[in-house]
Amino acid sequence: MCGIVGIISKEEVNIKDSLLGLLKRLEYRGYDSAGIGFINNNKIQLIKKKGSIDDLACSIKNNYFSHIGLAHTRWATHGKPSSNNAHPFISQNKKWAIVHNGIVENYLELKKELKNTRYLSQTDSEVIAHLLEKQKASSDIEKVINVCNKLKGSFALLGMLVDKPNTLFIAKRKSPIYIMEGNLEVIVASDTICFEGKGSKYYTLNDDEFCVASLDKLTFYDKAGHQISKHAQVLDNLSYSLSKNEYKHYMLKEIMEESDVVSNIIKEYSKNRFTEFNKKFLEKVDNIVIIGCGTAYHAGLIGARFFEKHVNIDSTCEIASEFRYSDKKIKPSNLYIFISQSGETADTLACLELVKRFGGLCVGITNVMHSTLAKNVDICLNVCAGIEVAVASTKAYIAQLVVLYMLSRHFEGQLRNLQIDYMKDVEKLRLSLQKTTFTDIDEIASLISKKQSVTFIGRDIDYSSSLEASLKLKEVSYISSFACPSGELKHGYLAQVDSNVCVIVLATNQKLLDKTLNNASEVEARGGKVVICSPFKTQDKFIKIEIQDIDSDLICCLVASKLQYLAYKTSIIKNINPDKPRNLAKSVTVE
Ligand code: M6R
Repeated sequence: MCGIVGIISKEEVNIKDSLLGLLKRLEYRGYDSAGIGFINNNKIQLIKKKGSIDDLACSIKNNYFSHIGLAHTRWATHGKPSSNNAHPFISQNKKWAIVHNGIVENYLELKKELKNTRYLSQTDSEVIAHLLEKQKASSDIEKVINVCNKLKGSFALLGMLVDKPNTLFIAKRKSPIYIMEGNLEVIVASDTICFEGKGSKYYTLNDDEFCVASLDKLTFYDKAGHQISKHAQVLDNLSYSLSKNEYKHYMLKEIMEESDVVSNIIKEYSKNRFTEFNKKFLEKVDNIVIIGCGTAYHAGLIGARFFEKHVNIDSTCEIASEFRYSDKKIKPSNLYIFISQSGETADTLACLELVKRFGGLCVGITNVMHSTLAKNVDICLNVCAGIEVAVASTKAYIAQLVVLYMLSRHFEGQLRNLQIDYMKDVEKLRLSLQKTTFTDIDEIASLISKKQSVTFIGRDIDYSSSLEASLKLKEVSYISSFACPSGELKHGYLAQVDSNVCVIVLATNQKLLDKTLNNASEVEARGGKVVICSPFKTQDKFIKIEIQDIDSDLICCLVASKLQYLAYKTSIIKNINPDKPRNLAKSVTVE
């Protein structure tokens, strides 16, 4: 999704290089156009382009020196990707420039309020610059607050004013924005990743808070315009390795890091584990409701099975974008678990807000401990995956599964008064991930890259793993892919099967193995190509993806890792950049 950066520097800097350098760190978020704005010779200058940051950089032939600038990567929502629709936007009198992340839901209404305004873009954001120009107020921050109070929807907003060449105006509602105050510069950005190597302390805004940033001070305000005080937070350096090391793509690097991630989890959770969840508390829990989107939802589906299996509490997993508009009862006696790698997914956060209104206990499982999710839940669990850059989630998914598994076994131990040594299962998983080889995958990737359609089938947890494997494959290879519960094949899917189709059969549950293999034979009998992904011996006629048998529920992580690699390899064969699949963004901060 859109990314924002801003800079005020004590020394005059090559502003194009400074802004583009920072913007590059937000590239992972996904975008389709980019732009920069700065004050030069007492004028605001904007340079914008459809395409990549590198395209933008190549189009800027001159160097410009300035103390202040802002920049943006845009992921199109209102209006197609184009240089006109790219941010920054400037007011008609050329005094204000702004960049915006979020959605102005009432922009058409607001446009009607503004007479005689010529719009240069089709976006919802441009109206903000024109509204700022038209505001009558005694101070500039009052103007910003008045405009933001009119906006419906979400925003991380950064503005600059030609008359104040050393000041940035910042506002936030439901979209992330962070402010770092260094000795020689102030940097504002959508992600603290931009602060790496620049300083160690930063500030966050809560919703409907504002900041006027200059080199000598940061002043914070609430939406009534009253000054408020804020404490700085310390950057967590561990999560900030943006280097690809020897790997060609982040996706590959992140798959290869999975055993290290499990090590991090073991370190983090070896002491004082889940102390908040004691027997007394758990006995009062009626149901467990897990909520997430995409890959996080798939982890939640498996998590719900862990809870049902080990704890005997009815557990479900809900898609956040559906749950928020459903008539599901929210009960204070339920335990709500929100899973989000980024902690910034708009639909998941909307569900959190909804549940909090009804008083349910909210637990977050996230990879970003300074995220909006982490700040707003009652208890937050860190998945310790380190920064995940590739759009397709890999190591964070494995980490979510491990944390859910540990939590379910902890609940079991509490409720049954048992000491369960579940960390030994986690250690076994770590070792197996370390030993995993992927050479068997290359040939299968080559096979499926030629197929029109690939379906993953399985029963129980293997079906949930199929949903995730299918999402991963379609995300980075663009191959049409489905997941089907094995037992449902005869109820419709078999009509699709012919020699253009490949079916990947997930079979990690010995009790269900024969049934699942029968389904595989049904596909084969109709000309479909069958690949079996299993730790068990199966008929030689099927191509096999070998999975190590670790005799625990965490085997789903080994399956995921292999199938993530399959998706990766297929994207490479198809000449697709797996780190940035078309039309997708890493962090979905708008609905
Ligand atoms: O940051 P989140 O975990 O909340 O993100 C949820 C989904 O947008 C995300 O998992 C998405 O499905 C991934 N691109 C999948 O690889």
